[in-house]
Amino acid sequence: MLKNPFKPTMGMTPPLLVGREDILDEVQFALDNGPGTHERVTVITGPRGIGKTVLLNAIEDLALQRGWVYFSETATKGFLPRLIGSAQAKITELAPKPKRKLTGLSISGAGGLDWENVEHTASPSSLRENLTRLLDLIDETDAKLRQETGLFITLDELHHLQRDEIIELATTVQHLIRESRNIALFMAGIPGSVKPLLGDNAGRNPITFLRRANRVTLGRVDTDFVREGLAVPVQNLGLRWDEDALDEAATACDGYPFMIQLVGQYSFAARQGDTITAASVRAGISRARTKLGQLVHEPALADLSEKDRVFLGFMAEDEEDSAVAEIADRMGVSAQYANNYRRRLIDAEMIEPTQRGRVKFALPYLREYLRENYS
Ligand SMILES: Nc1ncnc2c1ncn2[C@@H]1O[C@H](COP(=O)(O)OP(=O)(O)OP(=O)(O)O)[C@@H](O)[C@H]1O
Ligand SMILES: [Mg+2]
Repeated sequence: MLKNPFKPTMGMTPPLLVGREDILDEVQFALDNGPGTHERVTVITGPRGIGKTVLLNAIEDLALQRGWVYFSETATKGFLPRLIGSAQAKITELAPKPKRKLTGLSISGAGGLDWENVEHTASPSSLRENLTRLLDLIDETDAKLRQETGLFITLDELHHLQRDEIIELATTVQHLIRESRNIALFMAGIPGSVKPLLGDNAGRNPITFLRRANRVTLGRVDTDFVREGLAVPVQNLGLRWDEDALDEAATACDGYPFMIQLVGQYSFAARQGDTITAASVRAGISRARTKLGQLVHEPALADLSEKDRVFLGFMAEDEEDSAVAEIADRMGVSAQYANNYRRRLIDAEMIEPTQRGRVKFALPYLREYLRENYS
């Protein structure tokens, strides 16, 4: 049986990663251009399912191809000690083996020999000491192999709750960059979790470093890329899309990467023989929308305040974009009050401004989801 090529699973690399070439070019530049390149510290933000994690994976591949040492972490509590552990393991792997001296023969055991390390270096404990030691070892290896690599760290699911650990990592990396070390740090998170880390916060200034980092806002991909993302994995299996079916599927994705995988998977499953027809796609879109609701809309709405949800609920009454002043009327609040919601929801990337005073949903099918579940 033919395996379905699409991968509608968070964090799973798609059969074809589309529409991210510009960013990947930027990363290659950052890696190859040496210490001091601004893009070496990058914060990627974007709504759920836009492809942050799989982009980080693709970025790691680039680092790996260049022979860099890389650590991939998720910013859950305790990521810093985990990072230190990874660094220590790598130090042990790269460090020249200590010379040993025979100190005796033990009779009790299996007749083993007792050894004592001649050179005994205490293992460093702070993140900075560990990373410095590791970077020294990487430099030594590079010198031997006549190459220039470095240390690459990715931190996914950036969240202000881990603020203290993130500050320590940022401060450490900042020092190492000032020392012209070959280190790069790529972080990703949803805007609502990242914004508080970047916001002005008098007195907690190591974050300035993050604020000055290169910022990448991940958005939707162009329809041509969507078509490619749907078509190529199917063609590679020797199957095909009907032309109108592919058009319909691509339109339904609305540039949203997660939908490429969902619509692709369910349309593929509903194919007729070797062909994905318009009927397969219609069945596919319907199942894709249900899944999208469970996996994206529901958690995204759960992150918001009740009032923000009410604002979105009133927006869902419109067929196209909404006038903020009208939403204010429907809510029975002042225009100024409604503007606060507008600001917050834009920050959370739930809505985006279209023209003056008007906004639209930033996630595909959120309107339909709200109508079906919140009215
Ligand atoms: N550029 C792309 N081309 C094709 N498919 C993609 C692309 N980016 C992401 N996808 C697919 O979309 C889904 C979501 O991707 P990913 O898990 O990276 O999103 P995310 O932004 O990390 O979401 P979250 O905020 O929930 O962690 C996955 O199934 C992935 O395969
Ligand atoms: Mg992710």
